[in-house]
Amino acid sequence: MSINVAIDGPAGAGKSTIAKKLAKELDYIYVDTGAMYRAMALYMIEQKTDIQHMDAVRSACDAITIDIRYSDGEQQVILNGRNVNDFIRTEAVSEMSSKISAIPEVRAKLLSLQRSLAAASNVIMDGRDIGTHVLPNADVKIFLTADAHVRALRRYEEFTAKGINCTLENVEREVIERDERDMNRAIAPLKQAEDAVRVDTSQMNIDEVVNCLRQLILDRI
Ligand code: DC
Repeated sequence: MSINVAIDGPAGAGKSTIAKKLAKELDYIYVDTGAMYRAMALYMIEQKTDIQHMDAVRSACDAITIDIRYSDGEQQVILNGRNVNDFIRTEAVSEMSSKISAIPEVRAKLLSLQRSLAAASNVIMDGRDIGTHVLPNADVKIFLTADAHVRALRRYEEFTAKGINCTLENVEREVIERDERDMNRAIAPLKQAEDAVRVDTSQMNIDEVVNCLRQLILDRI
């Protein structure tokens, strides 16, 4: 049986940075489920899908194939045969992915892919509903969070380091709007699983979070 670690939490809590490092150390596979929603969002942006109309969303879902590959341990998202990793981190894709992730057809499309990856290998999977919905029997569940202002500041620093022009005010607004949407949708909303350990990273640096989570994982497997 494979070992499954679920990490959920709001945007900018540090899930992917931490999960990637831990997966490398423990020789697990890192599964970034947000990237799958982002790839679906990219398709709908490119195809100008009218997401207010369920028929249009359904046809888009039918036309999308998402595959996951790994290259040097990095997850690559393949959308209809095209590697889209370099195109899914824009603000437009962030916003669209949060919007479409509230649509049941979109979530249903990704659920079996996520579960089959977890069944096949030891994984650290991050997202919003992994502990509550995708892997309810995960061996370890962690809810990683931080103050909205701290999360926005981290995002802002990440963007400016990449040369992306933005203001802290806008980044903070976007982070808060996205959390609200992700927490308040009817289907598989962002929330802490009852049996998840909550870790608030507001006052912690990356190494401290990695050490804390490593211990939590090793204590439980
Ligand atoms: O983790 P991320 O920022 O890449 O995720 C992008 C969006 O995808 C996020 O705002 C909500 C959605 N998402 C989701 O609904 N469920 C997941 N398991 C992962 C992401």
